[in-house]
Amino acid sequence: MKSHLIKRKQIAQSLPHSSALILSSLPQFFRQTDVSYPYRQESNFYYLTGFEQAKSLFLLFPSSRSVLFISDKDCVKEVWDGPLATTKQVKTKYLINEVYYLSQIDNILKKKLKGVSKIFYDYSNKTCEFNKQIIQFKFKKTESAYHFLKPFRRLKESKEITSIKKACSHSIHAHKEVAKALKSNISERALHGVFIKSIMEQGSTREAYQGIFACGKNATILHYVKNNSICKKGELLLVDAGAEYGYYASDISRVYPVSGKFSKNQKNLYKALLKLQKQLIKAVKPEVTLKSINQKMFEGIIHILLEFGVLKGSLKENLKMEIYKKYCPHSVGHLLGLDVHDVTFKPGESTVLKPGMVLTIEPGIYINRTDKKFPEDLRATGLRIEDDILVTQKSQKNLTLNLPKEAEEIEELCSS
Ligand code: GLY
Ligand code: MN
Ligand code: MN
Repeated sequence: MKSHLIKRKQIAQSLPHSSALILSSLPQFFRQTDVSYPYRQESNFYYLTGFEQAKSLFLLFPSSRSVLFISDKDCVKEVWDGPLATTKQVKTKYLINEVYYLSQIDNILKKKLKGVSKIFYDYSNKTCEFNKQIIQFKFKKTESAYHFLKPFRRLKESKEITSIKKACSHSIHAHKEVAKALKSNISERALHGVFIKSIMEQGSTREAYQGIFACGKNATILHYVKNNSICKKGELLLVDAGAEYGYYASDISRVYPVSGKFSKNQKNLYKALLKLQKQLIKAVKPEVTLKSINQKMFEGIIHILLEFGVLKGSLKENLKMEIYKKYCPHSVGHLLGLDVHDVTFKPGESTVLKPGMVLTIEPGIYINRTDKKFPEDLRATGLRIEDDILVTQKSQKNLTLNLPKEAEEIEELCSS
């Protein structure tokens, strides 16, 4: 928990005089009276504490003093849910200066927030369990804690990169297991099961997001998560799935032919997209904006569509008409970290890439079932190739390079 302490010290230095950063844990959600959904701590809360219990409130002051409120011991609840931490245990394990039970919150909070005129707190997001307690103080100024923490979370330290690498390595192995299990008439759900089994066997905590196992036309739905179709011979299966290890995400997409071999048209389109993806990865380096790489992707998609006779005219005309957006409606990628779409840039924000950032590069082409501009075996098809890229001092490192993506390698993997 030392790394969280170091982070708190570093972040506290940026807090203005007479301010406090206040974070709430994510509430535990229930599917039914006493049947809970799986719990995962809120990412910012985890980032600064490492503490995974719900119903917790954390405060950080410019002096780097830290205060944490946790659930009171409850012997009835503990019979069902297991032991709750004591204040003493939390203080020692998480290196927090002051830890109190929630039954003391009203008194203690008054003392701790005396003289504080500005807070960094997110009233409006899903983590608002403590709004009632916070709002009564009528602070002169409130800013978003999420936005305040963004610049810190964007730059990963070596321990965070190690966790991302581990998540990537688990995902790579699991993707290979899926490719090997793929055959005609297998269900998308069974393949999803293969992926989850593999990442969990390797020691990942869970998926970083709901995996997409989409064959045929399902792959044209960008966030398809039903995973309830049967894979048919001749179709392509899009797998977009990533493990979470130590709270850090990985996010990989590959395309696998259900029958083990791409058709000629499928291979040509796949190769064109792969060529573009490699160019986009090469473009990742310090001081480059994600926006400029995004622009390169759209230009590349237009080139492919021109090459396949789907679009006509010049690059400039096509950029203006934006028909290409029908074939690629999403952007080139996003930052990766505690969240799969990590502290993402706002639309239009042209923040430059810096060493220590991790991002995905994931161009895609999606062809509707009724699109007569493409040959029949390419209709009802979605292709996306996604790797996780670390920005280094001079250029970039592909953290998911070990998962094959050459068309022939994919065919070999699917038939092994
Ligand atoms: N897995 C979601 C995405 O690629 O953004
Ligand atoms: Mn992604
Ligand atoms: Mn993805």
